[in-house]
Amino acid sequence: MEISRKINKIKIAYFSGTGSTARVADALEREFTAHGISVIKLEIRAGNIVSGDKEDLLILLFAVHAFNAPKIVYKWIDSLCSNNNRPVHAAVISVSGGGEMTPNTACRVSSIRKLERKNCKVVYEKMVVMPSNWFVKTDDRLAIRLLEILPSKAKRIADDLLAGVVYRTRPKLIGRIFSRVGEMEKTGTKFFGQKIRVNENCNGCGWCEKKCPANNISILDNRPIFGRECFLCLKCIYGCPNKALKAGTFKFIILKEGYDLKAIEKRMKGIKPAPVENLAKGYLWKGVKEYLLED
Ligand SMILES: Cc1cc2nc3c(=O)[nH]c(=O)nc-3n(C[C@H](O)[C@H](O)[C@H](O)COP(=O)(O)O)c2cc1C
Repeated sequence: MEISRKINKIKIAYFSGTGSTARVADALEREFTAHGISVIKLEIRAGNIVSGDKEDLLILLFAVHAFNAPKIVYKWIDSLCSNNNRPVHAAVISVSGGGEMTPNTACRVSSIRKLERKNCKVVYEKMVVMPSNWFVKTDDRLAIRLLEILPSKAKRIADDLLAGVVYRTRPKLIGRIFSRVGEMEKTGTKFFGQKIRVNENCNGCGWCEKKCPANNISILDNRPIFGRECFLCLKCIYGCPNKALKAGTFKFIILKEGYDLKAIEKRMKGIKPAPVENLAKGYLWKGVKEYLLED
């Protein structure tokens, strides 16, 4: 289905913990600006003020956390003023490590519902897949394919949106149940933050304090102190320039190798890509395989 609408100005509001979603935001921005469209890119983080610009299309972009959007995304939507005169068209794009498969299928449902309450008309939704930053590492050979395919996926999304394509999914009950259960993660994340350990590598540089999207870290006597606002984005643990922060609980979700997209690109430079079918085996990688092979 298509609807006609003239798009001159787009706002891309994105939440990214460890950089994947920020890359998707950049790729989309490049596509739209190439079409001569004005793009306002806004990073969702604690204290970021919702700008009053009147965009023709709002693109909400977020990293999937426990089959949902992270808490900060809901807070951001709640802070939007509802425009009762004219509904704002919106697209909701989730970025996950596992792709569009159960248990992820209903990950956009709650944010879409919240946007609709703010008089946004959600006309489009999509899942973008990027290397996983938790629990199970994406094989470098698959990860590099995900990074390489991103520009063409972004082009497809931009083309769809500019052509007025309407695309909404209808997640099955099982996906909705997983998503509901996943919301319980939100009550536990603050404990994760409070238990983060600081080792002797810490020199009090303040990187974590500056970068934490929840504003949950402050430096006191040259040491980071963690408050109760953590929502488990993992930015501080993977990004600390001195590798000084370690999880004190739920250690199994942290990738031993860390998470660094530039390092993956460096490692894979000059290596011939292997067929996706040989790499993405088993149910866990079903969504990734379908994403890479769909076009
Ligand atoms: C706490 C947490 C929960 C996550 N939950 C899911 C999930 O339910 N499904 C999934 O496919 N990926 C999940 N991921 C992986 C991320 O969605 C994925 O790696 C994404 O690319 C990270 O984006 P970012 O780098 O912009 O933060 C999770 C990551 C974290 C840190």
